[in-house]
Amino acid sequence: MKFLDWWAILHPAIAVVVIYPILGVVLRQAWLTRQRRLSPSDAKSKIPVSVGQEHSQAGRWLTTGVVIVSLLGIGYPIFSKFVEVGAAEFTGGTARLVALILAWVGSLVAIATLFLIRPKTPRDLRLPRALFAILTGFGVVALGQQPEVFKRDYEALVSHYYYGIILVLLMIFALATLPEIQRFPRWRILHIVLNIAAAALFLGQGVTGARDLLEIPLSWQKPTIYQCDFQNLVCPGQPPT
Ligand code: HEM
Ligand code: HEM
Repeated sequence: MKFLDWWAILHPAIAVVVIYPILGVVLRQAWLTRQRRLSPSDAKSKIPVSVGQEHSQAGRWLTTGVVIVSLLGIGYPIFSKFVEVGAAEFTGGTARLVALILAWVGSLVAIATLFLIRPKTPRDLRLPRALFAILTGFGVVALGQQPEVFKRDYEALVSHYYYGIILVLLMIFALATLPEIQRFPRWRILHIVLNIAAAALFLGQGVTGARDLLEIPLSWQKPTIYQCDFQNLVCPGQPPT
């Protein structure tokens, strides 16, 4: 494998090795938190009081990890294109590259700040929470919209890109509203509904990501593989099926 291939593998590898194990912890603690709340008082003691707090802490890491891993997934096709073709052939040249790097680093700083903000009550730090959540979401969406990023628009319902963007936004929303979820029953219900959808999207990301890995050739295979017709599923020299 060449340098570009190792770079390409960074996103799926971190998703599998870091993100999905944290998701397992978050889901387990979510289940226990709900069980504890619903169980009659004598059974309650079997589940520790701290389980809700632990779910929130793991959730903070999950959101931050998902944003970082998405920035890696979106950053690769954009920045590797520049490395491959050089400034002269890169759309927008060096000026656009600099703007994109600033947006990428800015998004990282925004999610790091949102992670570090520790509100104690729902009234606490509302404005910075909203601001850094919007900045992070805007950064990821703006970078994702770049033409270098493959979106599978012709099969949008099974697109790794669209699932990923919705998932990132749901995770950011959970992190930004953490004290509200802790305090208010209505927010908790909203959180459960939205994050059951998020859990389904995580499943979707595992399946669509693995499919994309099968479809994308290694860098040295590209000149041959990209002569194939991906819509009609034929390659040059093959009879149509
Ligand atoms: C797929 C991901 C997630 C699922 C399925 C999920 C589900 C749940 C469930 C079922 C509860 C229990 C509600 C209750 O006690 O009635 C809960 C509570 C909570 N969740 Fe999540 N959640 C997820 C991710 C997150 C994330 C990413 C965060 C924040 C960054 C978060 C923050 C919270 C908080 C603050 C509570 C309240 C805990 C408490 O009662 O002390 N969750 N979640
Ligand atoms: C936490 C879950 C994940 C999120 C939020 C996520 C998000 C993204 C995003 C936003 C992109 C850029 C858009 C695109 O090229 O489709 C991307 C690309 C990619 N992801 Fe993921 N991903 C996740 C998990 C995975 C997993 C588990 C795998 C594989 C095992 C994977 C494999 C890939 C591949 C191969 C690409 C390049 C796709 C292409 O250019 O067609 N992803 N991901």
